[in-house]
Amino acid sequence: MPLSDQKKNPPCKHLLIFILSQLVTAFCLFLYLRPSRDPGPEAWAGNPSSVIVQPGNNSTAPEAGSELTILLWTWPFGQRVALQKCSELFGIRDCHITANRSWYHKANAVIVHHRDVCFSPKKLPQAPRPPSQHWIWFNLESPSHSPNLNFMDNLFNLTMSYRRDSDIFTPYGWLEVLSQPQNFSIPAKSKLVAWAVSNWNPASHRVQYYEELKKYLHVDIYGSHHMSLPRDKHFSILSQYKFYLAFENSLHEDYITEKLWNNALGSGAVPVVCGPPRKNYERFLPSDAFIHIDDFPNAQGLAQYLQELDKDPARYQRYFQWRTWLKPSERSSWTVHFCKACRALQMTETYQTRPGLAKWFR
Ligand SMILES: *[C@@H]1O[C@H](CO)[C@@H](O)[C@H](O)[C@H]1NC(C)=O
Ligand SMILES: *[C@@H]1O[C@H](CO)[C@@H](O)[C@H](O)[C@H]1NC(C)=O
Ligand SMILES: *[C@@H]1O[C@H](CO)[C@@H](O)[C@H](O)[C@H]1NC(C)=O
Ligand SMILES: *[C@@H]1O[C@H](CO)[C@@H](O)[C@H](O)[C@H]1NC(C)=O
Ligand SMILES: *[C@@H]1O[C@H](CO)[C@@H](O)[C@H](O)[C@H]1NC(C)=O
Repeated sequence: MPLSDQKKNPPCKHLLIFILSQLVTAFCLFLYLRPSRDPGPEAWAGNPSSVIVQPGNNSTAPEAGSELTILLWTWPFGQRVALQKCSELFGIRDCHITANRSWYHKANAVIVHHRDVCFSPKKLPQAPRPPSQHWIWFNLESPSHSPNLNFMDNLFNLTMSYRRDSDIFTPYGWLEVLSQPQNFSIPAKSKLVAWAVSNWNPASHRVQYYEELKKYLHVDIYGSHHMSLPRDKHFSILSQYKFYLAFENSLHEDYITEKLWNNALGSGAVPVVCGPPRKNYERFLPSDAFIHIDDFPNAQGLAQYLQELDKDPARYQRYFQWRTWLKPSERSSWTVHFCKACRALQMTETYQTRPGLAKWFR
């Protein structure tokens, strides 16, 4: 009896192995082909961080079904934020996202927000790191406003920032492709140029540029020390302007903030940008969606151009043509960024150390 059983076994085993291997292949294909619900600029800007990596056979990630735990070492800037379920935001498996440090020893990943730890290495987790835990360096400020980057060398396994070459790409905004073309209606315009600025530094490039520009053109200024711009009136006030000065506080690759995404594009005002070079903006936006100050030899040239557009509605409207097929994303939020980390952690589990963080982030 036992002998005949043994004889029957081999074909059964082969069949089982075959079925198992089919299942594994199907699962990998599913992971690979699964459409992303988040058509970021990746879709058309060739962003390398969108490359999907298949899970290995001895994943540090738990079995499908069980949740990854992500510990927020601090709430960003010390302020508690509302968390949403990643299954609702991105249609992925949920992660357990918590700021309760009792989870440190069980956390699969720890997100460390640069600004909240950068003034002392003692603010970093001090307990030994569990072997398979990933530390994620998270920062949305520009290098000019990110002190003590050298504390962070040789500590982190992943980077999470607005830089396109981050392991987890968390831009301030992106464009989404519409499923149907739309007739975008330009909000009614009664005013020419607005700028909202909270940090008025007379020595900065942007304030100096403005000082020159205002000799030729009137600009309405909002922000502390200027006209007030309550949060709930953002859209109704800014949308009346034909142009919005989306001037970044410092010039760095990919550093394109809510000044462009929310203040200008979100309000239906044409952005006049000062930031990284035009080519860099064109990785995020069509070339005819914005005006770059570098397009002109000086502020006078820009002023003249804006005045010409003011008198030529057909030419002005061309700055909205791209909206037939594209729309700016909804205002991004902390919880969207955290869910991007959740998604990235579910997709792959092999990361290295970022040795030269300070050298890379500038
Ligand atoms: C599974 O992982 C082990 C250890 O990482 C490795 O040696 C082995 O080759 C892997 N097997 C397959 C089929 O990938
Ligand atoms: C899987 O990983 C664990 C922990 O890293 C290790 O102890 C175990 O030997 C690995 N198993 C295989 C099959 O590679
Ligand atoms: C933190 O988590 C631990 C373990 O789950 C729990 O006992 C404790 O009450 C939590 N603390 C807070 C403030 O939620
Ligand atoms: C993460 O980086 C640390 C610090 O360099 C390193 O010791 C650890 O092995 C890395 N962990 C993983 C899971 O790659
Ligand atoms: C957009 O408006 C034009 C002119 O009013 C009209 O001919 C066209 O069908 C509209 N297209 C869409 C997609 O609504």
